[in-house]
Amino acid sequence: MDKAEIRKYDREHHLHSWSVQGALDPIVIDRAEGSCFFDMDGKRYLDFSSQLMNLNTGHQHPKVVQAIKDQADRLCFAAPGMSYLTRSQLVKALMEVTPGDLNHFFFTLGGAEANENAIKMARLYTGKFKILSRYRSYHGATYGAITLTGDPRRPPVEPGIPGVIKILDPYCYRCPFGHTYPACNVQCARHVEEVIQYENPNTVAAIIMEGVVGSNGLFIPPPEYMPMVREICNKYNVLFISDEVMSGFGRTGKWFAVDNWNVVPDMMTMAKGLTSGYLPLGGVAVSKKISDHFQDKMLWGGLTYNAHPLCCGAAVATMQVYHEEKLVERTAEMGGFLMDQLNALKEKHPSVGDVRGLGLFTIIELVKDRKTREPLVPWNAAGADLAINKEINKRLLAGGVYTFVRWNWIFVVPPLVITKDELVEGLNVIDQTLTWADGQL
Ligand SMILES: Cc1ncc(COP(=O)(O)O)c(C=O)c1O
Repeated sequence: MDKAEIRKYDREHHLHSWSVQGALDPIVIDRAEGSCFFDMDGKRYLDFSSQLMNLNTGHQHPKVVQAIKDQADRLCFAAPGMSYLTRSQLVKALMEVTPGDLNHFFFTLGGAEANENAIKMARLYTGKFKILSRYRSYHGATYGAITLTGDPRRPPVEPGIPGVIKILDPYCYRCPFGHTYPACNVQCARHVEEVIQYENPNTVAAIIMEGVVGSNGLFIPPPEYMPMVREICNKYNVLFISDEVMSGFGRTGKWFAVDNWNVVPDMMTMAKGLTSGYLPLGGVAVSKKISDHFQDKMLWGGLTYNAHPLCCGAAVATMQVYHEEKLVERTAEMGGFLMDQLNALKEKHPSVGDVRGLGLFTIIELVKDRKTREPLVPWNAAGADLAINKEINKRLLAGGVYTFVRWNWIFVVPPLVITKDELVEGLNVIDQTLTWADGQL
């Protein structure tokens, strides 16, 4: 097929996710390497969102590609009830990096299924049914996971599953309680306890939150927040589930985002960086007490493609790449450099209200006015209200930078293998685009 034919079948017969279909004009991607990909006209793009924030080891890493080929030659599939090499190798590799006693794993095909299974296990383990989750969150598109989700992708498909209660977020730049840190006394964490009390702790099975919130604004909680939530969960016998689907596998400069606060959740869900996107795989890591529970009780859950041998093979090779190339440590270092660059952009451009992040998980938040913090593009904008957002995206793409531009946020979440030169190259394009945005104030 040539480019025109690829586009024709795509536009006429394929339904894209999260899209008004008629408004789409997708890039026809041809090939990729490291931090870049190329369209069918040979134009090169720096991938500043690691596709869907998942290609941590970069595009087409030869070791991961080779491992997939080798595993395909040896064994493409085994029923989940069997035992096999790549799954045991993966469990061993994960145990070495997951915090505390989170060293029992249930595998899925992606993040949403991991969250579905985590809340199911929490309900089975505790015998309670309510799950607390946050408004500014995304946990996946399946029915349970979208009910956990707080962002605007949830209401159009409601009603979801019963028993999910929403809480407010630790979003310091736009504190939902109107406070300023540290005078706030970490009200966002105290609010968690208040809601558990209102709901009756005997009915609350778990709280789920992203290690660091991704697509809903990438805000970093105050340092006390996660440890306080951990304590509150202990006090009320509520399980703490950290969704590390986007924030895990080195993205924040630690193996998992919760490691930034030395917090050990009861369960951790993962996907994306687990195989770096090369094959679909997700998982739930559970603590010993939860795994012990299922030693003599049924785990009511399963999937034909639970721990697919090919996907496990890709994950084992990905884990090796993280270690061999010291990507976690490298990300912590590169993150410091990136934050310096982002702070310089904030100094220069009045349209930038805030820059924040951890490691190579960063965001630029645009405002109409720094004093009022009114967003340059309204939250949940659609249609004509997205004109500025669309123009920003167009200018970035024209300059050869592909990333997420969601409402008033520009995400800078490149592959962990990106070089300083590539970062500077992409940030220069963002710099020019922000000069245009300043003109819209
Ligand atoms: C934090 C978080 N959890 C869960 C998911 C869902 O993962 P998947 O799309 O693999 O189902 C995502 C996807 O972006 C995510 O960012």
